[in-house]
Amino acid sequence: DKGNYSHFMAKEIHEQPEVVGRTVAHYVDLATGTVRLPEEVAIDFAAIDRLAIAACGTAYYAGIIAKYWFEQLARLPVEIDVASEFRYREPPLTGRGLALFISQSGETADTLASLRYAKAAGWPALAVVNVATSTIARESDVVAPTLAGPEIGVASTKAFTCQLAVLLALAIHAGRARGVLSAQEEQELVDALVGVPSHMTKVLARETQVEQVARDLAKARDVLYLGRGLSYALALEGALKLKELSYIHAEGYAAGELKHGPIALIDEAMPVIVLAPRDKVFEKTVSNVQEVAARGGRIILIGDAHAAGEAGLAGETAVVMPEVHPAVVPLLYALPVQLLSYHTARVMGKDVDQPRNLAKSVTVE
Ligand code: F6R
Repeated sequence: DKGNYSHFMAKEIHEQPEVVGRTVAHYVDLATGTVRLPEEVAIDFAAIDRLAIAACGTAYYAGIIAKYWFEQLARLPVEIDVASEFRYREPPLTGRGLALFISQSGETADTLASLRYAKAAGWPALAVVNVATSTIARESDVVAPTLAGPEIGVASTKAFTCQLAVLLALAIHAGRARGVLSAQEEQELVDALVGVPSHMTKVLARETQVEQVARDLAKARDVLYLGRGLSYALALEGALKLKELSYIHAEGYAAGELKHGPIALIDEAMPVIVLAPRDKVFEKTVSNVQEVAARGGRIILIGDAHAAGEAGLAGETAVVMPEVHPAVVPLLYALPVQLLSYHTARVMGKDVDQPRNLAKSVTVE
């Protein structure tokens, strides 16, 4: 049932404040402002010195963001692969490690094969899954559920932000367990996480800003998405969403890679979408924007208005985002990224819920 929405994807995008709120509440103690993992999610992060993540598509991008969180907040070394590479590369899983698999459906063939590989190598497997009865959930040692509810639209939206909520809670927990975060730092991070749903509601109220950008994007042949740090994986996600829904060619790049090739593509015809939250790499992102502008590129900035204003980029800011703790930026910036692909595809008359050639769950390689 799509309710009042014309597509499942729109409904699922708008459900995010609710389902992310529900997922956060499952992993934190609101009264004390601390992470409190459900009893069955028993992991001793102090007892491991390596984390290996494997997943596919959008879940893989959630994994890249998780890598940054686990490394920064818990100083835990993390490797990440797309599951189709992990399973055949057969990485040596030695030492005290944990393998982490992320999947909405819990049935993705390559992710399941990667899980079986890790278990055969003797590593415990943790799965972040949305379908509790799935094969990946059944075969994992520990299951950390996302409480997104059924996701019908082929393009993953609410499952992705719920994955991020669970992964950030786990990374904060690991940071405390490993003695990296102080109690006060934990409290600040948990407060930021708990505040995400209400910020999401504010972002969703700015949908008309995104629709305006989408009408412009619908005319493009190619689109470049740029981001740094936590926003790098979101740039990849934005490009994936745009191509799968609108069939416009899109590429996501780490903004620092611009000079190493993609800058050659820039002309008046190619929109460059820049994710520019105020974080510790903001100044670097600004200088990338100036490089694009100097070559006549069309900049579409998604960012915080104050920061952009100070950097002289107020005129380029197409979608104004709230100022939030840098750690939770991916949970909020995911929304305009999803809405942009949704509205671009809709304006172009594409089948948003059922894009050509795609299946919701990829159970064969
Ligand atoms: C993109 C998308 C896919 C899935 C991927 C993994 O919008 O939905 O890239 O994320 O097929 O699926 P799960 O999470 O079910 O393992």
